[in-house]
Amino acid sequence: MDRIRVEGGRALCGSVYIQGSKNAALPVMAAAVLHRGITVLKNCPCITDVSDMERILESLGARTMRRGHVLTLDCRDIHGFCVPLEYGRRMRSSVILMGSLLGRRGKVTVPYPGGCTIGRRPVDLHLKIFKKMGIYVEERRGMLHASCREIQPTEHRFPFCSVGATENAILAAAACKGRTVLKNCAVEPEVKNLCLFLKKMGVKIQGTGTDCLVIEGGSQLKDTEFTIPSDRIAAGTYLFAGAITRGRVTLHRAPVEELTSILQVYEKMGGQYYRNSGKLVTDSRRIRYPVPYLETEAYPGFPTDMQSVLMSVLATVKGDSVIREQIFEERFKIVSPLNRMGARILVDGRDALIHGTSALKGQHVFAEELRGGAALVLAGLAADGVTVIENPHFIRRGYENFCENLAALGGKITVDR
Ligand code: UD1
Repeated sequence: MDRIRVEGGRALCGSVYIQGSKNAALPVMAAAVLHRGITVLKNCPCITDVSDMERILESLGARTMRRGHVLTLDCRDIHGFCVPLEYGRRMRSSVILMGSLLGRRGKVTVPYPGGCTIGRRPVDLHLKIFKKMGIYVEERRGMLHASCREIQPTEHRFPFCSVGATENAILAAAACKGRTVLKNCAVEPEVKNLCLFLKKMGVKIQGTGTDCLVIEGGSQLKDTEFTIPSDRIAAGTYLFAGAITRGRVTLHRAPVEELTSILQVYEKMGGQYYRNSGKLVTDSRRIRYPVPYLETEAYPGFPTDMQSVLMSVLATVKGDSVIREQIFEERFKIVSPLNRMGARILVDGRDALIHGTSALKGQHVFAEELRGGAALVLAGLAADGVTVIENPHFIRRGYENFCENLAALGGKITVDR
């Protein structure tokens, strides 16, 4: 098994190109299944969640071809409808294949979703809208089986926002003859992006980017070429890698409009930035202020996916900070490894009380999930001595060339095999 080895204490300086977005790519790949033809995705990140999704699509009958960051999906011959257990269990987002396979095949079997170990992550909202669309769903021995004669149009208000449930409903509606109205939809950029892709493919959608979507599906779809947008969470992670080392990092191709809440926190901590012909130039040398209180929220609020990375930074900022995690209940898994590195963090229900210190120490730690894993690498960059992070495969689920990029910024970081 490989591991990441970081020798801390160097301020990161230089430039990094932001990869394509994981959470935008996965639903678009699922959407490609709706069309009996070819989809070409540019700027598609080389990460294991995407390659796992490729393997799933292949198992269903698709042919996939990758050249660098261009991924071609040939979905002319989708004959399967079962998502293989091994992939479905480890990748929660495979659940969004439900909507598209129901649309294409009228039936689907998916393992009850796995993914990051960050809480219960139920799928009740997905199943509720499916039932309203005339889809019969049952759970048998850890597998979800769904089928329908014809997907029915419906009007539905989600009781609260869910990115995945909104995407699944959009995908099913795209294949449904008639008008589906979805209210209280998630407005994350990745949902908007899915709508943009489907529109390009030939689906009629009104309200793109808002919480109310009107979808008229069932139309003839066409071969589509589409560019995956930059990853806002990867951008935020490199920004905070600069912050934790008090460095100066320039982000190329950062989706700046989607980073507002992250940049607000960065500024509050003392970070400085400006935009210069498409680049985001950041200076973290004055980072020194704690964040008295911050809640994770649905977009455009501060994203839960940035919470552990922020926690690592705040662990190095003297004074008291509080983060309230409002989206996923078990997302404080890095508290114990951070505390072993010398941080002083106390968890009280949904709150993490962080008493910052300037003296993190290198340790042997274990990544347990994607974002928490990245946060431990950041902590290692700021710690005295050597930090070894086991289970880097979690980090490769979502970050392309993470260690190589940090090393290019001057971090002393290697992958030991
Ligand atoms: C997506 C993102 C993930 C991000 C999250 C919140 C992808 C592949 N993943 O996950 O990175 O952290 O949005 O921005 O895009 N919930 C229910 N019942 C449901 C569905 C969700 O109770 O049927 C709850 C969840 O437990 C959670 C909240 O709703 O508390 C939000 O979850 P949701 O937006 O669905 O997250 P995901 O789509 O799984």
